[in-house]
Amino acid sequence: MRSEPSLNEGINIRRFAVIGHRAMNKGKLPLNDLAGGAGRMDVLVRAVMSALLTSHDLRSNVEVILHLQGGPGPHRRLKFIGSELRGFHAEERSVAGLIAKAIREPSPAIGQWIERTPGLYDGGGTLKHTLSEWSDSVIVRLDANGERLWNQDEAIPQDSKPNDQTITFLLSDDQPLESDEGIPRSLGSTWLQGHHAIAICHFLLDEGVQLNL
Ligand SMILES: C[S@@+](CC[C@H](N)C(=O)[O-])C[C@H]1O[C@@H](n2cnc3c(N)ncnc32)[C@H](O)[C@@H]1O
Repeated sequence: MRSEPSLNEGINIRRFAVIGHRAMNKGKLPLNDLAGGAGRMDVLVRAVMSALLTSHDLRSNVEVILHLQGGPGPHRRLKFIGSELRGFHAEERSVAGLIAKAIREPSPAIGQWIERTPGLYDGGGTLKHTLSEWSDSVIVRLDANGERLWNQDEAIPQDSKPNDQTITFLLSDDQPLESDEGIPRSLGSTWLQGHHAIAICHFLLDEGVQLNL
């Protein structure tokens, strides 16, 4: 097993940093109580699936970092690298099982990434560390109250012309995001589920809608 995630150098990466305010970060993950005892881990599982999966495939140009802030250990991060993942299936319990396998191990130090299963890395640290590691990209804080993510009067192209920028999207679980990092951009005035917000980001990027960045 590698100890450092490989860099997706030379390709355009879509990155999602997701905050799990109450998400459990150490011990035995209760697979039958992801929403309750695991601290809304169900929300994070849906987010990571929405970020990484298409109907029949894995998006190899996506990276996701889940920020598990709910204790009982120090803040911990799980990083999923689409180009390296194996055994990642479109089934919530199976994805939760990968998370369970990672967090039953002792938490790594800040700055250290340990590969727990292929393409899933476990590390210490917080959002601050993630944003510094991803500082080579534009950072968009998804916020319904911000300006729209697309330009005024922008048309949706008839042919898919995927956006080739490397972009980081920052979003939260069911709780408000207490951060002023990144540029605030909205997907509409209605607050959505996080995994729906991720799906809309992919749609805009897949179709090549000109973004307001
Ligand atoms: C379930 S929402 C969080 C709602 C939470 N009660 C709040 O007030 O922030 C999860 C995340 O999805 C993103 N999101 C939801 N709706 C959005 C919208 N209309 N525009 C942009 N981002 C949105 C935000 O990043 C949000 O943190």
